[in-house]
Amino acid sequence: MNVNKIREDFLVLNRKIEGKDLVYLDNAATSLKPKSVIDAITSYYTEHTANIHRGVHTLSQEASEEYELAHKNIAKFVNASEEEVIFTKNATESINLIMYSLLNSNFFKKGDKIVTTIMEHHSNIIPWQYLEKKGLVNLEFVNINKNYEIDEEDFRKKVKGAKLVSISGASNTIATQNDIVRLGKILREENKTAIFGIDGCQTAPHKKIDFKKLNIDYIVFSGHKMLMPTGIGFLIAKKEFLEKNEPFLFGGDMISQVALHSSEWNKLPYKFEAGTPHIASAYGINAAIKYLEKIGLENIEAHEKKLVKLCIDELDGKNGIKIYGPKNDNHGGIILFDSKLNCHDLATLLNDQGIAIRSGMHCAEPLVSSLNKEGLARASFYLYNTEDEVRFFIEKLKDILE
Ligand SMILES: Cc1ncc(COP(=O)(O)O)c(C=O)c1O
Repeated sequence: MNVNKIREDFLVLNRKIEGKDLVYLDNAATSLKPKSVIDAITSYYTEHTANIHRGVHTLSQEASEEYELAHKNIAKFVNASEEEVIFTKNATESINLIMYSLLNSNFFKKGDKIVTTIMEHHSNIIPWQYLEKKGLVNLEFVNINKNYEIDEEDFRKKVKGAKLVSISGASNTIATQNDIVRLGKILREENKTAIFGIDGCQTAPHKKIDFKKLNIDYIVFSGHKMLMPTGIGFLIAKKEFLEKNEPFLFGGDMISQVALHSSEWNKLPYKFEAGTPHIASAYGINAAIKYLEKIGLENIEAHEKKLVKLCIDELDGKNGIKIYGPKNDNHGGIILFDSKLNCHDLATLLNDQGIAIRSGMHCAEPLVSSLNKEGLARASFYLYNTEDEVRFFIEKLKDILE
């Protein structure tokens, strides 16, 4: 993997921040976009602008083809069938789709249990909390162990009798990469029927997903964290699930036949894609998938782990720094850390050096609070970050703390 060559594709890396070269270490929040993705999106507006759904004119045919190709590409990317790939606005909307679809289908009965974990992003807590607030379900949280991994005994105990289990594939804070296959086996030993869903936001950009092999009911992720534009997200769900359950949004395109008082839902995946979608993003999706496949997700993951190891070796326990996350190979491309400085002050001082990190709760307030912290700093890596950048970050961080 030639990182210097890759960097030429990301024009924003030419930016100066406070007169210094930009060092972008906020990839867990969103990724930068390569020129090929930006050009592809632009081409929709400069060459192919039209609504989709196979209008007979040329532009509509072209846009429809690209949109359908994006579904095919995502299906292939995660080894699912095209009917199982739903385009949404983002991962948050995808989880809401699952929640509302189940609610609309009267799936939950009063007193049912939903299980998630304390390491979740708010988007995998609040939709379920909404059902709890309505008095419909009880929400239980699986704890993490001393190595910042899911406590498997607690998981085993809590999933018993649950109607739905929704956990992250990888944490956006403590960087834990959960072993979904292993947790799935434990789940099925204790519970044959619960819906098993994965928040794949921090997995899909970094690790190959095989939807069929994972043996889960659904996985969600956002395009913007994996080189694609903002405003596009994905829900990959088993065909049986999507066929059985009611839609979430209602209106045009999600129907096949309409009379004044009744309608028939469209075939999959369109049953769950009401209204005009983010058509331009389809062009971006196709270019991004091409880019990621050319580099190879396994190379991206290995590269990030190398950068993480460098940070752990150079920073953990030094200059008052504490890094939170598994001390083994299950630590993904994120460094969550604490120091004697307030995390926002630290992020501001790093920004003065051109280094972009994130500070605060990271939309995972229960997790950060469980560490008895009111905020933490986070550096996160992607394919275009170099070892030199990480060394520069380490040096400046130490300078500031000294
Ligand atoms: C683990 C995880 N889940 C969910 C989300 C929500 O993603 P979005 O805001 O794109 O819906 C994020 C975003 O940071 C995340 O990291």
